[in-house]
Amino acid sequence: MSKPLRKVVFPVAGLGTRFLPATKVVAKEMLPVLDKPLIQYAVDEAVDAGADTLIFVTNRYKHAIADYFDKAYELESKLQEKGKAELLALVQGTLPRHVRAIFVTQPEALGLGHAVLCAKPVVGDEPFGVILPDDLIWNGQMGAGAGKGALRQMAELADAQQAGVIAVEEVPHSDTDKYGIVDATPVDDRSALIRYMVEKPKPADAPSNLAVVGRYVLPGRIFQLLEQTTPGAGGEIQLTDAIEALLKEQGKVLAYRFEGIRFDCGNKAGLVRATMHMAMQDPKLAPTVRAFLGQL
Ligand code: UTP
Repeated sequence: MSKPLRKVVFPVAGLGTRFLPATKVVAKEMLPVLDKPLIQYAVDEAVDAGADTLIFVTNRYKHAIADYFDKAYELESKLQEKGKAELLALVQGTLPRHVRAIFVTQPEALGLGHAVLCAKPVVGDEPFGVILPDDLIWNGQMGAGAGKGALRQMAELADAQQAGVIAVEEVPHSDTDKYGIVDATPVDDRSALIRYMVEKPKPADAPSNLAVVGRYVLPGRIFQLLEQTTPGAGGEIQLTDAIEALLKEQGKVLAYRFEGIRFDCGNKAGLVRATMHMAMQDPKLAPTVRAFLGQL
């Protein structure tokens, strides 16, 4: 059996400009897909991978995330009084009892790499996961036929290979300038040895259309490499640059094509797709949604 991934970092200190004006006050990660905020899907995936310590990298505008995972005394006692056991379980179930949430701040949005570096004092020197909650990855986690979450698949591979693992997905060639892109040598159906990575290349310069998406399993060593990383694309400290340095040093970082569907909920079309997908998974909602789409 592989070792569980105990610590997972959620960098949630970005500005979320693509959802303004809502994100003036609502953290992007609190936007719901049906009745659950994006951050809940991400936390469920981390817990599925074995995590018992969740580290949220937040900023002063994101108090709602801490509130969401906190105990809601008044609401819970009202639901208890009224005998609403099912709702009470939902409210209390945002974080399983054995899991603790730790909040660290990123004082300035200096990039994803910098956000991850802010978690260094909590993670220390052990392999850890990173989940970007706006990439919602669905592998049938609800109900019968549920598959392993993407991070669990990656944690198992990282442990078996004793290497960093990065989630990748094929994207249209015209979109390479929106992602970190890897050049990799296939090992099997799903994994490949990364040769090099480049952040947001123009389609003409991209070595492939294998794009890095929001899941990583990284060794503690990445923190020292992040400390040495200077601002790259967009003037930000890029996680991709530190992973490239890790690759040079250790010679082995794997790209992994996860089993599941990814919804990029960092943009409007992705959030709509995720909502429709989840609605169709729900036997009570599916007929209404199908009929409404027919009318449209
Ligand atoms: P995005 O590129 O999606 O940026 O960040 P964003 O600010 O969240 O959203 P837009 O583009 O303005 O709409 C990718 C991930 O990295 C985190 C974000 O919170 C998101 O999870 N991030 C990014 C940080 O935590 N800090 C940063 O300085 C930058």
